[in-house]
Amino acid sequence: PETGSLSIVVLGASGDLAKRKTFPALFRLYRQGFLLPNEVCVFGYARTEIDNNEFRNRLRGYLVPGKDSSPEQLEEVSKFLYLVKYVSGSYDSKDGFCNLDKDISQHESLKNSADGSSRRLFYLALPPSVYPSVCKMIKTYCMNKSDLGGWTRIVVEKPFGKDLESAEQLSTQIGELFEEPQIYRIDHYLGKELVQNMLVLRFANRFFMPQWNRDNIANVQIVFRENFGTEGRGGYFDQYGIIRDIIQNHLLQVFCLVAMEKPVSLKPEHIRDEKVKVLESVQPIKDDEVVLGQYEGYRDDPTVPDHSNTPTFATIILRVHNERWEGVPFILKAGKALNARKADIRVQFKDVPGDIFQCQKQGRNEFVIRLQPSEAMYMKLTVKKPGLEMATIQSELDLSYRQRYHAVIIPEAYERLILDTIRGDQQHFVRRDELKASWNMFTPLLQRIDKGEFKSIPYKPGTRGPAEADKLLLEKAGYVRTHG
Ligand code: BG6
Repeated sequence: PETGSLSIVVLGASGDLAKRKTFPALFRLYRQGFLLPNEVCVFGYARTEIDNNEFRNRLRGYLVPGKDSSPEQLEEVSKFLYLVKYVSGSYDSKDGFCNLDKDISQHESLKNSADGSSRRLFYLALPPSVYPSVCKMIKTYCMNKSDLGGWTRIVVEKPFGKDLESAEQLSTQIGELFEEPQIYRIDHYLGKELVQNMLVLRFANRFFMPQWNRDNIANVQIVFRENFGTEGRGGYFDQYGIIRDIIQNHLLQVFCLVAMEKPVSLKPEHIRDEKVKVLESVQPIKDDEVVLGQYEGYRDDPTVPDHSNTPTFATIILRVHNERWEGVPFILKAGKALNARKADIRVQFKDVPGDIFQCQKQGRNEFVIRLQPSEAMYMKLTVKKPGLEMATIQSELDLSYRQRYHAVIIPEAYERLILDTIRGDQQHFVRRDELKASWNMFTPLLQRIDKGEFKSIPYKPGTRGPAEADKLLLEKAGYVRTHG
């Protein structure tokens, strides 16, 4: 492992993302000994003019596990907060970033280990509009200057652009300042346990390798559902909609891992090469293979325009034009204010040819990977109904993580991804060409939605979304529902 001082700078430190995700993830890494007090300093940078103590107090509430925290837990939080230092400044001010650099340098001079190298990680928990100016400030005033090695890395969050053009513009602006190996584009779905399990499942199991193709698979569904609306985020959400918020990034990343070919090795570049290839094999999305919806009540949010057509639900069929997948629909479906909070991948197999049991009406073989909540994998299959008669029923082979691995605490996505940024592993981060290919896929549709050429169908909160989506899947994707 690398040694030397480690400075983690969270820019946008008083924002929601930083308080709810970034700092708690850092705290968990600290608690498990991945961030060592004798080398790390965590800097919070934001515009609000407050002092260290005030900042630490504001953060404390997000770190303590609950009202019934033990004195030891409270003590751990205090020890971590002791490593946190707040610097206030604006996102385009020379003074602010010079102050930040001064503080980082001071930390480095105090903590430097024998090799004297320094590691600087800048986490931009900020709106993308300020990425270019912040990156410029970091590049000009805050780079690691140690002759003895180390690195400077930046972490950026979505929304990374709004369409192909804006994403490419942003990539170019940042690309002029930092090399690709220094840029970590986070998609937190890539940090989820069962998403990371996907490659192992596919390429370490003889069961799946010969089955995973158009000869055996009828369709694949990747579904994200939330049982709450855009509460408090309507203003942001209305600018983006469900396709930019969930489908173009989270679901498409999952799609890549399900559909890509086997990489040459586990090297990040080999994996990302395959992801780009499969993205580039997707055919243009057809108008009649899309259903958009908006839940009733969405526009009651005062920050949402009265006539907004922004989709809060979408079902989109992707068609992959390659040897493995020709003819297999990949259904990406996401919605807010639906009947459940769940994300899963459902791989539905074709009917058994010449079915002597006539059991097909009971449902097809299906392999389900539940990403959340309660991580699980299960196979729906047909078995003989126990008893004297020769009858069949659908049953399940079930691997529930909670039962099987109850002693393991599954890490949070952000915790894992931040650790990767410190270790310099880009496997679970989105490369520039991947991002471009993903925007390329959705931009024509998004432009038409933005122009109002595509209508969102109203649906009642707490339901499965517009009935048109189920109809689409039945008619265009031959998707037969085997669950509630
Ligand atoms: C975020 C979206 O990226 O992911 C949110 O902006 C969404 O709208 C969230 O709620 C879902 O993440 P998770 O990990 O709770 O499924």
